[in-house]
Amino acid sequence: MKNTVLTLRKQKKEQDKIVMVTAYDYTTAKIMDEAGVNTILVGDSLGMTMLGYEDTLSVTMEDMIHHSAAVARGVKEAFIVTDMPFMSYQTSVYDAVVNAGRLMKEGRAHAVKLEGGVEFAPHIEAIVKASIPVVAHIGLTPQSVNAFGGFKVQGKDLEAAKKLIADAKAVEAAGACMVVLECVPEKLAKMITGELSIPTIGIGAGADCDGQVLVYQDLLAMYGSFRPKFVKVFADAGVTMREGIAAYIKETKQGTFPAEEHCFKIDESVLDEITK
Ligand code: KIV
Repeated sequence: MKNTVLTLRKQKKEQDKIVMVTAYDYTTAKIMDEAGVNTILVGDSLGMTMLGYEDTLSVTMEDMIHHSAAVARGVKEAFIVTDMPFMSYQTSVYDAVVNAGRLMKEGRAHAVKLEGGVEFAPHIEAIVKASIPVVAHIGLTPQSVNAFGGFKVQGKDLEAAKKLIADAKAVEAAGACMVVLECVPEKLAKMITGELSIPTIGIGAGADCDGQVLVYQDLLAMYGSFRPKFVKVFADAGVTMREGIAAYIKETKQGTFPAEEHCFKIDESVLDEITK
């Protein structure tokens, strides 16, 4: 069944948890889609996981379009959400609409995601008016890492908690179809989830959100040794990949790969003719 803004909202109503995971390329997206995730996030986390940057700030529109289009070619049923990169929407409402449009037209996304709450309500409203679904992202917003002074849990004191609730309500009122809550105390995330009619997707925000999102390299233990508190490793693909590559190296060096069954044949008479 195709996942859409309507089926995702229905999942919230029926308390059927929404599963979101990142993917950045055709092969991985196809695996995620066939596994049955509801939504795939082409996150700007690709700056770190695919491009090797320290943070998400260097990611460009061209990077996002390139990866989003590759994901779209591998997906049949999942709802594709593509991140708007740093400075593709912060500059003006006009830029936000133009760049959201590019992610839909060229990146074949089904929705765009942008970071920010109350301050970005006008941007969300304008994008939604252009018939583009928007997923908001509040709490720890990695594009603001320098303004935050690091990656920290958000909304812990009264003022910050009130601001987070105001952000959640503002993005809903602006027309967002979902909201990602990143690094938010679980009880606050539960409160926000209860107050909103749109689904909340948590990452480091506890089990009471309407759904969860994880970066796939984190949940499959493929990306470095640093592991945030909110990550659970569900399978150790990193170990499997290392073992596979080590075996390939060994067999190639030994000359046991390729074996008979991996080789193409030629008629001996052709060889005889060549060597005549
Ligand atoms: O870019 C990303 O992968 C994200 C998730 C961490 C929510 O925004």
